[in-house]
Amino acid sequence: MQRVFSGIQPSGVPTLGNYLGAIRNWVPMQDTHDCLYCVVDLHAITQFQKPEDLLRQTREMAAALLACGLDPEKCVLFVQSHVPAHAELAWLFNCVARIGWLNRMTQFKDKAGKNAENASTGLYVYPNLMAADILLYKATSVPVGDDQRQHLELANDIAGKFNHDYAVELFPRIEPFIGGVAARVMSLRDGTKKMSKSDPSDQSRINLNDPDDEIRNKIKRAKTDPDPLPETPAGLGGRPEARNLVGILAAVTGRSPEAVLAEHAGQGFGAFKPLLADALIAHLAPIRTEMERLLRDTAALDAALRRGAEKAEALALPTLAEAKAAMGFLARS
Ligand code: TYM
Repeated sequence: MQRVFSGIQPSGVPTLGNYLGAIRNWVPMQDTHDCLYCVVDLHAITQFQKPEDLLRQTREMAAALLACGLDPEKCVLFVQSHVPAHAELAWLFNCVARIGWLNRMTQFKDKAGKNAENASTGLYVYPNLMAADILLYKATSVPVGDDQRQHLELANDIAGKFNHDYAVELFPRIEPFIGGVAARVMSLRDGTKKMSKSDPSDQSRINLNDPDDEIRNKIKRAKTDPDPLPETPAGLGGRPEARNLVGILAAVTGRSPEAVLAEHAGQGFGAFKPLLADALIAHLAPIRTEMERLLRDTAALDAALRRGAEKAEALALPTLAEAKAAMGFLARS
């Protein structure tokens, strides 16, 4: 069975973007693939997190993933820092990846902003840790949103250089799995920016635990334009906010943007937005309720994560040992 790995940072509550772009695709894969899903806390600290926030958000993220339909009986769900082999393989990869490769990463440039001198060195080598996450399990399929494409190409470069330099066939090629109309959900305030859990404006995103009235308000206040909806997606050119809202309705109702426009062409946003809010609430309210239930029993949640980490570590350690042997490390006797 093909092995799948994917991760999500506990740098906030998961957004509709995380859900539609990634998590929703993780769920059916549990039945057809050998899946590992990881709350990547080591990645989250590449940008400062208050300790109490990191702790709370790690549990919230795990609860959200379970509430979205991940089943610890069908997949391995765990926290990255519980399996130290991730950090160790990442160090080995720091010594394989080239500075020129990292310099090309657009996400570093976006996140570091204008003052890159002041970014953490962890943020710079972040893609090496991401490569380690995946390759530690020799996973070949990685379901992600569109923004992770470049990081996966880098992971393949690292795997290729490692295999070449040490004359082994240790690491496989990774295929990104980037699904559907919602591979890039945009901010509700600016249709040219992606929706992000770390955006300073909470109005820019729908969080999976937003109450119904909050969802309704955020959609009501979402930036739009005064024109009615066109008959086909071609008519959404130059209208990023309109395109985004149509894409969101298509994704939550399991239709194509063509089908959504066939139904709503000619409608203005005054009529369209309440329908979109209703569809979102119908989809997200059960997830929020289940998330709240899971968070009432943190002992059970922590125990599920411990079992996940044990299973993950059993798979990770042999690969780490192979990598170290290939590089010539003296094994501890
Ligand atoms: P993160 O935590 O930013 O996002 C988790 C997943 O959600 C997707 N995503 C989106 N999809 C559509 N529209 C959006 N607006 C949107 N925002 C986020 C992301 O593409 C991602 O799939 N580097 C990763 C975490 C990671 C990882 C890995 C992923 C660490 N190790 C190994 C795959 C494999 C990240 O920051 O995701």
